[in-house]
Amino acid sequence: MKLSQINKLRNKTKLFTGTAGFIGSNLCEYLLENDVNVLGVDNFVTGHNHNLIHLENKSNFKFSEFN
Ligand SMILES: NC(=O)c1ccc[n+]([C@@H]2O[C@H](COP(=O)([O-])OP(=O)(O)OC[C@H]3O[C@@H](n4cnc5c(N)ncnc54)[C@H](O)[C@@H]3O)[C@@H](O)[C@H]2O)c1
Repeated sequence: MKLSQINKLRNKTKLFTGTAGFIGSNLCEYLLENDVNVLGVDNFVTGHNHNLIHLENKSNFKFSEFN
């Protein structure tokens, strides 16, 4: 993601699905480290809790299981 794109998202709150998946968890980690507030949702159909462990201690991350 380009710096100009991340700058537009900084300090904004964005909702992401698939947060407990491979791509979603890595994307969210990158966004959280760049001061984006992330609301993550996942139904765990293929996702795993272990993909969320490194995100859960971040103050700008909130997660909700959604079925
Ligand atoms: N991993 C790769 O290298 C790769 C490469 C190219 C394309 N893709 C595609 O990108 C997408 C994501 O890949 P991934 O590897 O992160 O897969 P993944 O299965 O790890 O992640 C998908 C996440 O979406 C969640 N999910 C699915 N349906 C949902 C729903 N209705 N509501 C909420 N959450 C839901 C799953 O539980 C999972 O956590 C897939 O479509 C995949 O085919 C992946």
